[in-house]
Amino acid sequence: MKELKYLNKYFVKYKKHLLLGVLFISLTVCFQIVGPQMVRESLDLITSYLEQADNQNLTAEQKTSFGYRLLQYAGVLLIAALLRGVFLYATRQTVIIMSRRIEYDLKNEVYRHYQSLPLSFYRKNKTGDLMARISEDVSKVRMYLGPAIMYGINLIVLFTITVSYMVSVNKWLTLFVLLPLPILSISIYYVSDRMNVQSERIQRSLSNLSTFVQEAFSGIRVLKSFVREDDSSERFTQESKQYKKESLKLVAINSWFFPLILGMIGTSTVIAVYVGGNEAMKGNVSVGNIAEFIIYVNLLTWPVTSLGWVTSIIQRAAASQERINEFLSQKTDIVSTTNIKTSIEGTICFNKVSFTYPSSGIEAVKEVSFELKKGEKLALIGGTGSGKSTIANLICRLYDPTNGDIIVDTQDIKAYDLAHLRSHIGYVPQDVFLFSDTIQNNVAFADETVSMDVISQATKDAYVHHNIMDFPDGFQTLVGERGITLSGGQKQRISIARALVKNPKLLILDDCLSAVDTKTEDIILNNLQAVMKDKTALIISHRVSSVKFADRILVLDDGRIVESGTHDELLSQKGLYKQFCEQQLHSEGIK
Ligand SMILES: Nc1ncnc2c1ncn2[C@@H]1O[C@H](COP(=O)(O)OP(=O)(O)O)[C@@H](O)[C@H]1O
Ligand SMILES: [Mg+2]
Repeated sequence: MKELKYLNKYFVKYKKHLLLGVLFISLTVCFQIVGPQMVRESLDLITSYLEQADNQNLTAEQKTSFGYRLLQYAGVLLIAALLRGVFLYATRQTVIIMSRRIEYDLKNEVYRHYQSLPLSFYRKNKTGDLMARISEDVSKVRMYLGPAIMYGINLIVLFTITVSYMVSVNKWLTLFVLLPLPILSISIYYVSDRMNVQSERIQRSLSNLSTFVQEAFSGIRVLKSFVREDDSSERFTQESKQYKKESLKLVAINSWFFPLILGMIGTSTVIAVYVGGNEAMKGNVSVGNIAEFIIYVNLLTWPVTSLGWVTSIIQRAAASQERINEFLSQKTDIVSTTNIKTSIEGTICFNKVSFTYPSSGIEAVKEVSFELKKGEKLALIGGTGSGKSTIANLICRLYDPTNGDIIVDTQDIKAYDLAHLRSHIGYVPQDVFLFSDTIQNNVAFADETVSMDVISQATKDAYVHHNIMDFPDGFQTLVGERGITLSGGQKQRISIARALVKNPKLLILDDCLSAVDTKTEDIILNNLQAVMKDKTALIISHRVSSVKFADRILVLDDGRIVESGTHDELLSQKGLYKQFCEQQLHSEGIK
């Protein structure tokens, strides 16, 4: 329950809605109980009329006055019912709206917080889990904020007013009539708890089913070519069977709900009539009182039912909020020490930098020192797993070094404002990711306001402009799930154009030419020489062809820099670089 305290700040924010909600609920209840009171008055009036009529001492005038009073009661009842309706509407308009607003705020808060968390967080947690907490868990919390609070307050107000009035009329009758209600409440609690558990099972089973279908149809080509259709149908049948089984269970549990309520109301009514009748014969209560009590019991049934339901909702909401809080309480360790925002020239200096991935314990970079001077084109070459991408990640400050430090211009990298630092870097990651959007929007991702000329030039520099022009929709071509399928090389080049649009001080290309042929690679590298003339670039690759033009090449092996120099210098060293060269020339030769 203490987890839900987190939401109190939102109650403070929306205190106006909450207070008005309480007021409206109280007014609704007040007008609601006018109904039974009028019924009692009317019945008592009719009883006394009948008694007097028996004695036949009624004047015509008295008769009309009886009729008139009866009409008055009916009028009051009607007006009260109308007002009750108005305030019921107002209650929903305040409490439920409050819950929707808080839901919106909370979702945004969680999303913003997610974005501030470091990459290591995303490694640790599955995307499905992140999605579930921002959608399902927030929805469950909303059920607490809206319906649970609304019915909770309604129950308290209605119970207090009705029961205290009932007790004032007759203590014993009240006690007997209310006896079945706690049993109802407890049984509903168990039923709704079972219902919730079962609904979740169904949800899970449904998500298994859809994941299965999605996978089967994404891989339909493999499925068909391996003639696995029958097996796939069999598995689908199994999954659906599971879903059906869970659904039938829910129906079985659901079936208890209304019989329980009706059974309890029935019992209360019988008790009211029996005990009430006895009391009436003793002259302790009137006939009107019995009718009134029966209506009260009916009025109380729903709130009492909701008590069980509300308890179950609150428990679920608390569990959900606990999951949300777990993520919200995680803080990013990548923070700026002094938030410097001075212009960055692009000199990067690594001072004995080591880095160990916390998740795997792998030391990916070991005591690496190098300097990347402003305007220099530096290349990093090494086999897979030698730590190249890790160095790029460290420069973008996606991770902080475990040991040693990185100096940008004259300051430690940690001193810079994070967004400011990253805005100066054009990073082309190794695994290309394009959003399901038009090519134009993907290229202009860094800055939506950028002109078409800039976009066009960037794609020319990345040597992908001619490909884009070949598509019927040109720059408006959709990529991703519903769009066209780009080749690996096209994606890589669009990703390069996206970095160039930023006009960065420092460009980092992380193995992003691996899927283009060497001829295209030459063209792109040549273009980049011109574009990046007075800017700094770090070119990372496992291919000699990508790095040989660089001013200086660092050879990385198992996280350490083992050689450095220009292409020619390294060749004469006859070390690892020469080996790479020979291997790759050999394989190119085979091609
Ligand atoms: N996110 C990660 N978590 C744990 N280990 C990682 C992660 N990324 C890379 N590694 C490990 O760090 C080492 C260096 O990886 P990486 O820098 O990607 O190499 P390269 O880019 O040269 O292929 C590898 O052994 C790899 O398994
Ligand atoms: Mg890599």
